[in-house]
Amino acid sequence: MSKLKGKVAVVTGASKGIGAAIAKALAAEGASVIVNYASSKAGAEKVVAAITAAGGKAVAVGGDVSKAAEAQAIIAAAIKNYGRLDILVNNSGVYEFAPLEAVTEDSFHRMFNINVLGLLLVSQAAAKHLGAGGSIINIGSGVSRITPPSSAVYTATKGAVDAITGVLARELGPKKIRVNSINPGVVETEGTHTGGFIGSDFEKGIVAQTPLGRTGQPADIAPVAVFLASDDSAWLTGEQLLASGGLR
Ligand SMILES: NC(=O)c1ccc[n+]([C@@H]2O[C@H](COP(=O)([O-])OP(=O)(O)OC[C@H]3O[C@@H](n4cnc5c(N)ncnc54)[C@H](OP(=O)(O)O)[C@@H]3O)[C@@H](O)[C@H]2O)c1
Repeated sequence: MSKLKGKVAVVTGASKGIGAAIAKALAAEGASVIVNYASSKAGAEKVVAAITAAGGKAVAVGGDVSKAAEAQAIIAAAIKNYGRLDILVNNSGVYEFAPLEAVTEDSFHRMFNINVLGLLLVSQAAAKHLGAGGSIINIGSGVSRITPPSSAVYTATKGAVDAITGVLARELGPKKIRVNSINPGVVETEGTHTGGFIGSDFEKGIVAQTPLGRTGQPADIAPVAVFLASDDSAWLTGEQLLASGGLR
């Protein structure tokens, strides 16, 4: 299949989890992909090796999205390696749940810096290179609607992502650049394992309320990103697609 033949994509935080699955799916549709990582170089190289082995094109590029110079360098790598940019997936994100009494300045700034400032900095750098037909896909979260207890800071970052998706859809619409978000429910990833979500009562409660009755997998999210990256969604902008097995 080649829905994205000739296109160039940047996926932030693609060394594992949802980002890795999206990078592979975009490459499988013909896009050349910048596989960004922050600390997991080996993980990103593994994703690149899988893409290359399947006949696709990808390069691993390190960089912390929350630092302006590094955000610019991630985008510059797309231009340097492939000469253009068509698709940006703002996937990098961190999550820590904590009750109100455990909220700290450090955890607030860490989550807002990566989940919100990082998304803005990479989008700012990308917007200079995206042209008509360009697509920005933000990975939000179902939490912005569900507002689970003990998630005030993380949920606030994803509420900000929803808001930014709407604002940038209007701001970049005149340049024919589309901006949408995918808002997943709980997805089994390295991050949700390390964070203790998988196997927890929280996960069991979420599954019990999910019409399709299970936890999501990265492979459930990746095709939605392909749809939003491709011309199949040419008339969609400013949308928040809940990818949560029906949990809302
Ligand atoms: N999993 C879920 O249940 C779920 C549900 C809804 C939304 N989401 C959202 O989906 C996205 C991915 O989640 P995930 O579960 O796949 O996470 P994950 O397994 O923890 O992976 C996170 C990715 O983000 C990267 N990252 C972290 N800090 C970064 C930084 N400063 N600069 C660049 N990259 C950075 C990590 O890179 P390194 O490993 O190289 O450090 C890694 O590639 C996040 O935005 C998350 O909020 C997840």
